[in-house]
Amino acid sequence: MKPLHQPHILLIISGSIAAYKSLDMIRLWRAQGAMVRCVLTPSGAQFVTPLSLAALSEQPVYEDMFSLKDETEMGHIRLAREADVIVFAPASADRIARMATGYADDLAGAIYLAAGNSIPLCVAPAMNPHMWHHPATQRNLAQIRSDGVHIIAPSNGVMACGEEGIGRLADPQEITQRVLALAKHPTQPLRGKRFIVTAGATHEMLDPVRFISNHSSGKQGIAIAHALRDRGAEVILLHGRVDIPLPYGITCHHTPTNAAMLLAAQAALPADGFIAVAAVADWKYAQPLEHKMKKVSTQDGWHLHLTPTDDILATIAQHPTHRPRLVIGFAAETQHLLEHAHAKRLSKQCDWIIANNVLGGAIFNEDTTTVHILDASSTESWESCSKEEVAHRLADRIVHF
Ligand code: CTP
Repeated sequence: MKPLHQPHILLIISGSIAAYKSLDMIRLWRAQGAMVRCVLTPSGAQFVTPLSLAALSEQPVYEDMFSLKDETEMGHIRLAREADVIVFAPASADRIARMATGYADDLAGAIYLAAGNSIPLCVAPAMNPHMWHHPATQRNLAQIRSDGVHIIAPSNGVMACGEEGIGRLADPQEITQRVLALAKHPTQPLRGKRFIVTAGATHEMLDPVRFISNHSSGKQGIAIAHALRDRGAEVILLHGRVDIPLPYGITCHHTPTNAAMLLAAQAALPADGFIAVAAVADWKYAQPLEHKMKKVSTQDGWHLHLTPTDDILATIAQHPTHRPRLVIGFAAETQHLLEHAHAKRLSKQCDWIIANNVLGGAIFNEDTTTVHILDASSTESWESCSKEEVAHRLADRIVHF
């Protein structure tokens, strides 16, 4: 029996100089609580040793289909069936060709077929750019993709052989994140859906060094972007200043001001959903000064006349032609929380609004929060949740929308 909640990853390493990166991936997965078992192909064993894999995974390493010991302790069928996800990383051109034709003359090939279509399969290719672009490789990739395999595309860069182009193994961080997402959400219920998420704090300049902004850390918006991506959605993240690293596998655009965020949001349409999490600066100085305001010239104080910025959420929710099917806003309030949130939902015309009490600066930069989610007919409260939990509950609610 698999331990509850511990993702179980079967990593198959084939012959590529990038095989050494599998050591990093094992470390990253284990740091996130996953159990990793490794299968090493004979050509993979030219680049990385079973001992290193066994030491990092703290599991036996499987190499030979005809090893009596391996087959009696853990047959290849069981090895496949006990995994939540099977990953071929790095996958050589030869390995991909074998998968495309269904060869099962070695342990990796037999596992691929034994997995059937009930276990998510993922391939992270790594090869020379000429091999990658060869029509045979592209044909084989198209074949395994249509057989249901998830491909984590290689990146562009300088190869170990000195050539430059597409073929470098994707970043191990990206591979580990995508594989964990597949282990947790094998059916990828939001696959084919596109979401725009805004996050973080925008700012409005007063002069070249001073600006109006707020305390938003971007944690909630980024957690929502992660949760949607984990369920297979294509996510476009429009962000102002954020205090945490940007996510992998998500298109991120830095939109520091209200105007930049609004333009980017309009340009990113059409989308299935729009989720406005950003703390957008509500006020701007109509004409930011070209030069720094000197203290000597402001003896009786600097009197600012501020004008409101555009409401991005309301603009998208009331878009005449491309309104996303689901538009979600947040309401940061310091009093009359539900009453104000309800009025905000109606005035902005979003479908759901998530109300937060921000009295005394609560919430910003915090890891836990209590939120109330209001739609046209109900109010639901999620008490003392981490921002990740809010994100996952919201994503699950979106799946069922
Ligand atoms: N929002 C937006 N554009 C703005 C201001 C807010 O898209 N110029 C979005 C926020 O991302 C959030 C929602 O509108 O989803 C509500 O933001 P909030 O700060 O709670 O309210 P405001 O609209 O700014 O109104 P007020 O400050 O009067 O409460």
